[in-house]
Amino acid sequence: MRVGLLGAGKMAEAIAASLIKTGLCEPWDITACDKSEERRKFMAREYQIVSTDCPVETVNDSEVLVLAVKPQDLDMLLEVIKPYLTAKKLIISIVAGKSLSHIKKHSGKASRMIRVMPNLALMVQEGMSVYCASKQATEKDKHCVKQIFGSAGAVISLPERHFDAVTALSGSGPAFIAYVLDAMIEGARALKLPKEAARLLAEQTLIGAGIYLQHSGRDIGEFIKAVASPKGTTVAGLAVLEKSSLRATIIKTLKAAAKRSAELSKV
Ligand SMILES: NC(=O)c1ccc[n+]([C@@H]2O[C@H](COP(=O)([O-])OP(=O)(O)OC[C@H]3O[C@@H](n4cnc5c(N)ncnc54)[C@H](OP(=O)(O)O)[C@@H]3O)[C@@H](O)[C@H]2O)c1
Repeated sequence: MRVGLLGAGKMAEAIAASLIKTGLCEPWDITACDKSEERRKFMAREYQIVSTDCPVETVNDSEVLVLAVKPQDLDMLLEVIKPYLTAKKLIISIVAGKSLSHIKKHSGKASRMIRVMPNLALMVQEGMSVYCASKQATEKDKHCVKQIFGSAGAVISLPERHFDAVTALSGSGPAFIAYVLDAMIEGARALKLPKEAARLLAEQTLIGAGIYLQHSGRDIGEFIKAVASPKGTTVAGLAVLEKSSLRATIIKTLKAAAKRSAELSKV
C-alpha cells in the first residue's frame, strides 16, 4: 500500500511510525509532504521515507492519502491537489473540525473518503481513533483505516454527528488529562516529593487506573468506593474534590472544545 502524508507534523509522524513498525508499509512506500524543510529532513532521516515539498507528486505516487495539515491550511492544500484526485484514491482526513462534505466540496471527483479523529497517543501505540466513512468508501477502505489506526491503538466507528464530542474527549483529551496530571505533580511537590518521583508516581497511577478500569469493565463509582476505605486517606481527598467545582469545570472544558470543533467546521 502506497501512502502519502500531506502535512508531516506530529500526527503524520505517528502514523508513519506505526505503518512501518507494524509492517503495513515499507518506508519507501510512504511519501511525506511538508512545507517545512526541517520536517522533511527529519522524516527522511528518522524513518527513511520519501520526503517532498510537492503535494501533487505525493498524490500521484500514492493510493491512500492522509490529509494531516492544520484546519486553516486544508482548503489551500485541497485547491492545489484537486485536479489530481481521482476515484482511485482513498482520502483519509484527520483534520479537526472538517466534515466529509467540506472535504468533498473542495476535492472534486474524489469520493472515497474517511474522516478520522485520532489522538497523539498514536505515537506510543496507545491512540484512540474514531472514524466515519463517506457512502462511496468501500469495506476494503474501512478495513484499511482500521489497520492503519488499529495498529497504533483502539479504533471504532461512530456517526459523523458525534465528531465534535469525539474531538473534545479523545482528540483534545490527552492535553486535559496532562493538565490534571500536572496539578497532581504540583500537589506532590508541595508535599516535598522529589520532582522525578512525583512525575513517575502520577503517570503510573494514571496508566494503572485507566488500564484497570478498561480491563475489568468495573463501574467507575464502585471502583472509587473500593479505593476509599472508610475514614481513610482517599475519603479525605474525595471530600475536597466533591466540594470543589472540578466535575463541573471538566464538563465545561469538554463543551468548550466541542464548540470550537463545531466552529472550525463552519470556516
Ligand atoms: N495534535 C493532535 O493531538 C491532534 C489530534 C487529532 C487530530 N489532529 C489533527 O491532525 C492535523 C495535524 O495536526 P499536527 O498536530 O500533526 O499538526 P502540525 O504538527 O502543525 O503538522 C502540520 C504540518 O503540515 C505542514 N503544512 C501546512 N500546509 C501544508 C501544505 N499545503 N503542504 C504541505 N505541508 C503543509 C505544516 O507546515 P508549517 O508548520 O510550516 O505550516 C506542518 O509541518 C490537524 O488538522 C489536527 O487538527 C491533531
